[in-house]
Formats: sequence, C-alpha cells, structure tokens
Amino acid sequence: MSLMSEKDLYKFPDDFKFACATAAYQVEGAFNEDGRAASIWDTFTHEGGSANHDTGDIACNSYHLWKRDIEMIKSLGVQQYRFSISWPRILPDGTTKNVNQKGVDYYKNLVKALINEGIEPMITLFHWDLPQSLQDRGGFINPEIIQNFADFARFCFKTFGDSVKFWITFNEPIIFTEMGHCGHPWEHAPGAFGKHNQWIHYWVAHNIMLAHAHAVKVYREEFKEKQGGQIGIVQVLSDYYPMTHKKEDEEAAESMRYFFQERFLQPIYGDGNYPEHVKNRIWENCKKQGRITSRLPEITEEEKKLIKGSADFIGVNYYLSHRVRALEDGEANIASGNVLDIDIGGKFSDWLNDHPDGFRASLNLFKKRYGDIPIYITENGVRDSPGEGLHDPSRIKYLRGHLVAVAQAIQDGVNVKGYTVWSLMDNFEWGFGYDRKYGIFQVDFNDPNRKRTPKESAEFFKNVVKTRSVQAKSVSKEDVLRGPPFLVPDEVEEP
Ligand code: NOJ
Repeated sequence: MSLMSEKDLYKFPDDFKFACATAAYQVEGAFNEDGRAASIWDTFTHEGGSANHDTGDIACNSYHLWKRDIEMIKSLGVQQYRFSISWPRILPDGTTKNVNQKGVDYYKNLVKALINEGIEPMITLFHWDLPQSLQDRGGFINPEIIQNFADFARFCFKTFGDSVKFWITFNEPIIFTEMGHCGHPWEHAPGAFGKHNQWIHYWVAHNIMLAHAHAVKVYREEFKEKQGGQIGIVQVLSDYYPMTHKKEDEEAAESMRYFFQERFLQPIYGDGNYPEHVKNRIWENCKKQGRITSRLPEITEEEKKLIKGSADFIGVNYYLSHRVRALEDGEANIASGNVLDIDIGGKFSDWLNDHPDGFRASLNLFKKRYGDIPIYITENGVRDSPGEGLHDPSRIKYLRGHLVAVAQAIQDGVNVKGYTVWSLMDNFEWGFGYDRKYGIFQVDFNDPNRKRTPKESAEFFKNVVKTRSVQAKSVSKEDVLRGPPFLVPDEVEEP
C-alpha cells in the first residue's frame, strides 16, 4: 500500500533559492600554479596530515575545469552556486601588498560565466585555507589577523563586489577552531597545538568573531550602499539530545548546545556577548584548576557593539544531530588533556547521519532564540554509503528527508530562504582525503581529466529544483533496521 498522498508533497516558496556548493581547497587543485602560495592545508597535507597522505594538489582540478563545473551547475537548474576564494591564490602572502592577478582573473572569469548563465555567485571568503605566511605569524591566535582579514575582505568586495551580491565571511568557525587547534582525533590544519593547549581554540574563535565583525563593518560602511549585496556567516546547527532522562545527561546536552552552537550565535544574533552558561562554566573550571584568568576571552563593550547584529542572514550547515551524555567520574581530566570535555561537561556518544527532525527542530529553535533573521541552508548532504556510487539511494533518502524538514520548518514559520546541497561533486574531504565522497556528481580521481558523472541524486535534486517541491516518503521497516538511531519501530507506519 502506498502511503503517499497530496499531503506528502511539499512546495517551496517562489522566491526560495536552490544552490550547490564547493570550497576552494577541496576542488581547485593547481596548488602551485600561476602564483598561488601555500595555505595551511598545503602544509598539513604535505606533512601527511590527511588519510592516505592525500592532498588537494590536484583535487577536482577545478582551476582548469571550471567550465565543466558550470555546465554541471547549469544542468541542475539551481539559482546560486556557493564557492570560496582561496586567499593565498589572490594574496599570496596574505596581505594586500602583493596581488596575484592570475588568481584574481580566475575568480573574475568564474563569476562572469556564472552570471552569464543566470546563476548567482555566493562567495565564502574563508573556508579554512589560511595563507601559510599568516599562520607563520600566529594565524588566528595573533589578533593582527583581524586586520589582515578585513583587508582581504575589502579587496574582494572592491574587486568582485559589482557582480557578487552574496558574501559569507567564515565557514563553520566551530570546526576550524576545534579540529584545527585542539588535537581533535580528526585533526585539521593547522593542527599544531595538541591536546594540552586548551586555551587556544577559545582565542581563535574570539579572533574569528572579531575578524568577521570588522569585515562586515567594511562592507556596510564602504560597499553595501553602492553594491547592494548582503553579508553573513556560516554556522553549524545541530540538535543535542540527552542519552537518558537523567538530569546530568540533560544538562550535558544543553551545555553542548551552548558551547558548540550558542557560543557562536548569541554574540552575533543575540546580545553581542557569549552566553552566561559558557562564561560561568569555563571560569568555574579555571578556578578549580587554580588559574587566575579565564580561558575564555572577554568581549569588551565596544566589541559587543561591533559584533551584535553583524550579519544580514545566517548560513546554516546541518549534517546531523548529537546524542550526549554526561562525563563519568574520572573519565576526562586535565591530565588526559580533555579540558575541552570538562568545560563542556559531556561527550557525544555517537554520530548520526540521517536525522531530519533535528534539522527542523534546530531551525525552529534558532527562530525562537533570535527571531526572523533570513536563513540560508548553505550546506546539507551526506557521504556515499558503502557500496554505493552512481546509484546512491541512501543519499537520495537523506536529501529528501532533509528537504522535507526545511519545507516543514518554513510551514512552521521559520524564515528559510534557500537550500544548498553539499556538494556539487566529490572532492577532497579534509582529514579524510578522498575516502569520503559527498558529491551529487562523481569525480574519477584516477582519471587525469577528473571525469565528472552525475549520480542518481543529481537527477533527484534537479527534479526538486525544477518542480520546486519535494515528495516525502514514509519510512519503511528496512530503513529502520538499517538506519537512523532516532527512529524506533513504534514510530513507523506499517506498510
Ligand atoms: C562542512 C564543510 O564546510 C565542508 O567543507 C565539508 O566538506 C562538509 N562539512 C562535509 O564534511
């Protein structure tokens, strides 16, 4: 018996924008061509930091194959393409003292060709590939980076802003700070600090926040009126579920939400400051450890004014929700280096790949906390399931469920304006190298021409874009047995 009906067909509003995304280091390659200098990811991968010693030296070779990329984007019928600018490709030493014209031309050509095809460019200024020369000066630990980033941003607004109307300052600050600066088991560049350095990531996050706010100020004061674009930041949203109804697990889940999410949202979309919970918890822990200052930097009154309201929209990357439990006695301690866990007060017990309800819930919660700020889903997607390639029913199931969640959030009254699939094509997946593939187009990394072929999910997405609607599907018993840990058999409709 089919369980589908009209009520399962979800329509997206007429002005809703569909998009697909990539990021410079993950697709461009040409790592040492035409004057591009090294980024921290070149250093990290050349030192064997990623799985199988994989690097982004060639990646999808989009630096040379961008015309093919545009054909693919066009075939999907999307309204926007999200990509990032490689900072060391256009400003090799990270500063505006030296401009690499060939790098600038690459992005100018890309932007022009997209616009000619009626596709709106959505540019991320920082998708993790910091110029190595700036890392050598301390990277995001050195507050000088705030000026460097604002200068880089100004250069981009000036150079591309007549054509580009959609700017993102930073991609996922939480991931860049935690994985790049904490000795996280899945380490990211710059990755030089190890477990015992549990101060740095708070400072990195702090300087990112200030760099973001200064870049927005530059845009608003010097360009916005003339160019008429909008500017925002991309954050990770998830839902955080306690493993049990025990009070300590509930508190741990809530604490995680504050540390991983609200710490980044509240300063920008709320009152300009870090949440009280985060400030208090870190300071209490620091005192217990006999420290005389808090690991968490303070946001000054002047900075609050700058940070508060420093975004025209929020870009949301949603992949999964988390189940959280409290730390058990002695499980984490300072000696083991897990200060981060102690500050947060809990541990993720597992990773979930397919939980659309958490998507809907987190969008609703954002609205409840911060109001009607326009929300663009700037990433959502899933890696290939084992054994799947061009035929990728698991991805279609995932995308369908999450698109339905977005449509439901809109029905709930949440101001979601667009949806971007991650990713246009298989690419270099950071610490996992080429082991994990997120594309709706397959890329043959053994082929020197990096042949791209649409997967079935590309056809699925194309159809969603064309009909501006998505058909929900009931969950089968097989899905339950295979899958998402949050679905219990009772909740499943019998076929
Ligand atoms: C988020 C990151 O922005 C993107 O670069 C990455 O490939 C995806 N997550 C998948 O892990």
